[in-house]
Amino acid sequence: MREILFDQQVQILSNRFFLPGHCLMVLRAPLSYGSACPGQFIMLILPGRSVPFLPRPFCIYGLAEEPECVRLEILYRVTGEGTDSLSRLHEGDKIGLLGPLGRGFDIDPAAQRVVLVAGGMGIAPLMRLAQAYRFLLRDKEFPIICYLGAAAESHLIGRDRMEALRADLRLSTDDGSTGHRGFITELFAQDLPSYRDSNTMIYACGPLPMLKTLAHCMIGSGLSCQVSLEERMACGVGACLGCVVALSGEAPGIRYGRVCTEGPVFSLSEIDWSVQDE
Ligand SMILES: Cc1cc2nc3c(=O)[nH]c(=O)nc-3n(C[C@H](O)[C@H](O)[C@H](O)COP(=O)(O)OP(=O)(O)OC[C@H]3O[C@@H](n4cnc5c(N)ncnc54)[C@H](O)[C@@H]3O)c2cc1C
Ligand code: FES
Repeated sequence: MREILFDQQVQILSNRFFLPGHCLMVLRAPLSYGSACPGQFIMLILPGRSVPFLPRPFCIYGLAEEPECVRLEILYRVTGEGTDSLSRLHEGDKIGLLGPLGRGFDIDPAAQRVVLVAGGMGIAPLMRLAQAYRFLLRDKEFPIICYLGAAAESHLIGRDRMEALRADLRLSTDDGSTGHRGFITELFAQDLPSYRDSNTMIYACGPLPMLKTLAHCMIGSGLSCQVSLEERMACGVGACLGCVVALSGEAPGIRYGRVCTEGPVFSLSEIDWSVQDE
């Protein structure tokens, strides 16, 4: 079990809007964050705010180890009070950090192909995963195929960074401003049969309807897929049961799993998609 650092106060190195309603925050985290697995998450605790204002969970988008610290990048969308307050913080401000938390993605050193399916902000944990694959298997040539979908071309977040990681990008937009007009799962479903012939690792993160569609189109494919879920969370460490999801299984009755400790990464087939609320 990796070390979890509780409520460490860390410095904000930068925090800026890169699109309306979308920010990138860079934190100066302790060196121990260098061992955070792709897919693990952190909780951010706003300065001067305590219970009942709860910490907020975020994925690690980027991570760079420096001699005295780790630069952690958090990509976030302003959706409510907590993220709005986050977006008002400045370089030099302090913030509470808890993590790294949860179960991350499994990386297969024998992978011959890596396929990522990202909807909108779902790119956040997948970017870090692509970065880790390129670093860990740096002596090996293998394709990373990234399906990236968003509402419009301007919202295809992480496109340049994925290209820098030599990912083969397959794009979709709801308005047809670039790539396929429609859902990213439609593009993925077209290519799915071609992924059966080799050791292909498939990973996904995005809105619940996207993951449900993915689960449906993968039935009978014989392929497995790891998904990162973004349930609402209160404690982030398994104590409050505020983040449970229904798991599939043979036994009668519904079995629940805590996303914060048993996830946020699950195998797509572990989740009972018939009872997930959208
Ligand atoms: C493991 C994990 C990783 C996450 N990573 C990221 C990330 O990298 N970038 C990012 O922008 N967001 C991420 N989220 C979602 C993020 O935590 C929420 O958007 C944030 O907590 C909302 O806080 P708020 O106070 O601004 O909004 P609130 O006032 O709490 O809610 C505002 C609106 O956002 C919705 N919302 C709240 N929490 C979630 C959630 N978990 N998922 C979807 N909708 C939610 C609410 O239903 C409501 O409509 C992640 C969530 C989890 C559980
Ligand atoms: S958030 Fe409290 S148990 Fe998961």
